[in-house]
Amino acid sequence: MIFKQEFLDKLKSAKRLVFFTGAGISAESGIATFRGKDGIWNKMKPEELANFNAFMQNPDLVWEWYQHRREIVHKTEPNPGHFAIAGLEKYYDVTVVTQNIDNLHRRAGSKKIYELHGNIERNFCVECKQYYDLSDLDKTEGVPHCKKCGGLIRPDVVWFGEFLPQEELNGGETSAKQSDICFVAGTSAVVYPAAYIPMNAKRAGSYIVEINIEPTDLTNYADYSIFGKSGEIIPLILKEAEKLKSS
Ligand code: OAD
Ligand code: ZN
Repeated sequence: MIFKQEFLDKLKSAKRLVFFTGAGISAESGIATFRGKDGIWNKMKPEELANFNAFMQNPDLVWEWYQHRREIVHKTEPNPGHFAIAGLEKYYDVTVVTQNIDNLHRRAGSKKIYELHGNIERNFCVECKQYYDLSDLDKTEGVPHCKKCGGLIRPDVVWFGEFLPQEELNGGETSAKQSDICFVAGTSAVVYPAAYIPMNAKRAGSYIVEINIEPTDLTNYADYSIFGKSGEIIPLILKEAEKLKSS
C-alpha cells in the first residue's frame, strides 16, 4: 500500500492523534456490524430491544439479549487494528473516541478512551444508579436485581432515545478538535451526535483520514480516504510512523 505523500507529511509532524471508531473496527474480531451486508439491524429491529420502554416491558428478554452479546464479545479478541492503535502511543498522544461498547480497545491496551455509547461490561440499577460489574452480579435466570434497593439492573449502554454520557462526548469532541490527525475508522458515520465529532474536528483544523472498506457519508468531507480493512491498514500506518519518527 502506498500512502499519499501529504498524509505521510502530516504523520511525520503530528503529535496528537484521534481515532474515532465504529463497529467496523471490530468486524475482523468477528463481531457483526449494525449496518451493511451482515449487519445485525437487518435481522432484528433495534427499536424492539435497544430502548428503555422495551426493557421495562420485557426486562428478561432484553437482559438475555445483552448476555448473548456479551458471550460473543468474551469469545473474541482485539484484532491487529485495535493493537496498532494502541501501538501508536509509542510515538503520539493518542485518544480513542469509540461508538463501540465491546471493550476491545481497552483489552488491546489503549489508555485514553472515550466511550460514547457506553460499555457492555458495566451495568447499573435503574432506580438508585448503583454500578455493577458483571462479576458483582449473581448468575440469575433473567434480569438481576439491585442488592441495595431491589431495582432492575440494566447494561450501561446508550439506547435509542437516550442522551450520550456528557463527559465522554465533551472529552471526545475536545480531543478531536485538538488533534493533528483525526482518523475515522470502521464507522458509517450516520449516527448523531457522535458523527458530529469528525466534522467539528475538521472545522477546527484537524486532518481527517477515513479508513473504511467502502465510501461513506463522510468520504466527501475527509481529507484522505483509505479503502481497505482497518485490521490491515492501521498496522501499515503504524509501520510508517515507526519509520518517520525514528528517522
Ligand atoms: P455501522 O454498522 O453503521 O458501520 C460499520 C462501518 O464499518 C461500515 O461503514 C462498514 O463499511 C465498515 N466496515 C466493515 N468492516 C470493516 C473493516 N474490516 N474495516 C474497516 N471498515 C469496515 O456501525 P457504526 O458506525 O459503529 O449505536 O454505528 C454507529 C452506531 O449505530 C452504533 O454505535 C450503534 C448503532 O445504532 C447505538 O447502539 C447507540
Ligand atoms: Zn438500586
